[in-house]
Amino acid sequence: MLSVKHLIDTPSLTADDITQILDTARSFAEVNNRSIKKVPALRGRTIVNLFLEPSTRTRSSFELAEKRLSADTLNMGGSTSSVVKGESLADTIQTIDAMNVDMFVVRARLAGTPQLVTHYTDAVVINAGDGKHQHPTQAMLDLYTIREHFGHLDGLKVAIVGDLSHSRVAGSLAPALKTMGADVTLVGPPTFLVDDPIYYGCEQTSHFDDLIEDMDVIYTLRVQLERMEGAVIPSKREYNRLFGLDEARMARMKDNAIVCHPGPMNRGMEINAAVADSERSRILDQVSAGVATRMAEMYLLLGGENNVISD
Ligand code: CP
Repeated sequence: MLSVKHLIDTPSLTADDITQILDTARSFAEVNNRSIKKVPALRGRTIVNLFLEPSTRTRSSFELAEKRLSADTLNMGGSTSSVVKGESLADTIQTIDAMNVDMFVVRARLAGTPQLVTHYTDAVVINAGDGKHQHPTQAMLDLYTIREHFGHLDGLKVAIVGDLSHSRVAGSLAPALKTMGADVTLVGPPTFLVDDPIYYGCEQTSHFDDLIEDMDVIYTLRVQLERMEGAVIPSKREYNRLFGLDEARMARMKDNAIVCHPGPMNRGMEINAAVADSERSRILDQVSAGVATRMAEMYLLLGGENNVISD
């Protein structure tokens, strides 16, 4: 069992919580490789996917994870619910809660929405990404992918590169890596660097080219053009020249080093196509890990000890 009731952010997770999620995800990865990809672990449980912001990877992997755990699911989006008629989030949650559901998975444009949902339901809440705040399930699939490659997380050197100031991915991944004993360096133009205690213990630099040879993992972040106000980078081409992961930079990486990206990618901006599609890239492994790690999180949060993994 995890030490938290809800999965809202990664700083609340202990090293033991993270290890349990990653170890349990390994069992579910094996289920996902079977011809019949289904176990009865959450049979009879009801999970609501409340996605108030667009998503491809997170939404589809939660839905698949729920189906593979045999849970009953209800999918709601902002544009298809009574939110468009002016119903408040509180009334929406209390209405759905009255139907005796077990879990809400919440993606929202506004930071703090999943935490707010916990006030209006006794059900378990998972944050599937809230504004610029947190994306804890992304961090778990990232850690899983990295651990599968290296066999461990402690002592690894990880550079998180790019649009740190708008990134819930960085804000979740960096503390989780620190909890697991990795060294984290944040890299970006001065306008993207961060002054937030969540990054305590991380190095920060704008000199990407100085550290490439030293890193085990280069994790590039999407430049979040939709969340920007004002001109914070000179141009896409200039950004790519200084901070883009291109073939020349990739060629300087250690033999066993890997490249990650949470998706969706701006190819030609933070990462070039030749790198994204290279053998070093773990981007599609991250997507695969998203199903297994989300199965593990839901299984553990809904009292997995009393359930079954094997069919
Ligand atoms: N990485 C991620 O959260 O992608 P989606 O927005 O497609 O879910």
